[in-house]
Amino acid sequence: MPQGFLAFPQGFRWGTATAAHQVEGYNTNNQWWQWEQQPGRIVNGDTSGIACNWWRNAEADFDWMVTLAQNAHRLSVEWSRIEPREGHFDEAALERYRAMVRALRERGIEPMITLHHFTNPIWLEEQRCWLRADRIVPLFRRFVERVVRALGDLCDLWCTINEPNVYAVMSYFGGRMPPGLTDMGSAITVMQNLLVAHAAAYEAIHAIQPRARVGLAHHMRYFQGLRPHLFLDALVARVIDGIFNESLLLALLRGRWHWMLWRGAPVSARKLRATLDWIGLNYYTRQRIAFDHTGGQALFGTLVNTPGVIMSDYDFGEIFPEGLRYFLRKLARYRLPIFITENGLPDADDDLRPMFIVRHLRALWEALQAGCDVRGYYHWSLVDNFEWNEGWRMRFGLIAMDWRTQQRTPRQSAFLYRDVARANALTPEIVQAYTPELFSQVFA
Ligand code: FCB
Repeated sequence: MPQGFLAFPQGFRWGTATAAHQVEGYNTNNQWWQWEQQPGRIVNGDTSGIACNWWRNAEADFDWMVTLAQNAHRLSVEWSRIEPREGHFDEAALERYRAMVRALRERGIEPMITLHHFTNPIWLEEQRCWLRADRIVPLFRRFVERVVRALGDLCDLWCTINEPNVYAVMSYFGGRMPPGLTDMGSAITVMQNLLVAHAAAYEAIHAIQPRARVGLAHHMRYFQGLRPHLFLDALVARVIDGIFNESLLLALLRGRWHWMLWRGAPVSARKLRATLDWIGLNYYTRQRIAFDHTGGQALFGTLVNTPGVIMSDYDFGEIFPEGLRYFLRKLARYRLPIFITENGLPDADDDLRPMFIVRHLRALWEALQAGCDVRGYYHWSLVDNFEWNEGWRMRFGLIAMDWRTQQRTPRQSAFLYRDVARANALTPEIVQAYTPELFSQVFA
């Protein structure tokens, strides 16, 4: 191996990640579609509309994946299409998903299927089922069984729930996602129920498909006190880290409820233990926290940007690859395979993304050298897509897309990522071609 060649393990998965509602188009039967129609909910009044037209023609983008030398893709199925009314399953929708997953396989792309990625059928949302374990757990389980029976011959890599912490916090406490509640107690209940629903799905999938590999995508954010000398900043950051980052791992891997989740929990956490075959890490950024004696946004903390650093578009986040290495090393302690199920940034003109990718892949490579068992990396995302309450303005795609014309134009980063996937390595040629300014850092 030439010196300075950062090779990845044989069979490493290079992919991208998407979510049904963000790419399919016309998901009119879920709570997000309803939310988008309400004035003031989405930036610029955007709606998902036709999105990236995947329901009709995901295959066009699957061809792009081939062009970009991808061997993996993480996509999600839309509950509101599959079970449009409670207890009524739509075989045609399942057939469409079969066709999509088959189309991936035919192109040599291994699917990872997410079963819940933020969206719910309207009937389920109207009954506020996520607030009631006795409702949501059997409903989710039945839905999952249906999907696994329909797609199980084409897929064995399942991601039960995307970012339980983000969903619970943003939808029930932050008010930014439907149903737009701002109640900490509800967020805690939903978090508990998401974890219990995950465990039920884990069991159900294995009962149908004993060889299945089941995990979930956990969003971890590197919380750090703003002012290094202030003990209270560090303390609040630590408390928030415990709830947001650690509580899920504690429940699903150690069988213990975090002190914030313990009260009113529907089951003993011991029942949740060992319900992960792998851990999915969604990693984006570092978040600084300042102590605020008036209460702050939550738990006496106010979220602030690190002063003086470059942020991606619209102050979305600081580029902080050290956080990826930190979390990988932390997760490696659980001795399970790890997938990086999301990592990316909004960057319409692509002036930061090449640097972002190279620095994060370097951090990932370092983690691999340190013995972390990382099996794959799914960049968020393949094409620009409907970014929830940010609508169309945040552009996460390796491929730019004008959503009105559906015109795709690959960004430079797409070719960088293709070259890495092809070589299964970060080579001096690649770094020299796309990010020469990083050469000495990467190959130090
Ligand atoms: C994650 C979500 C994903 C996408 C990215 C930018 O939190 O899982 O759907 O919106 O952020």
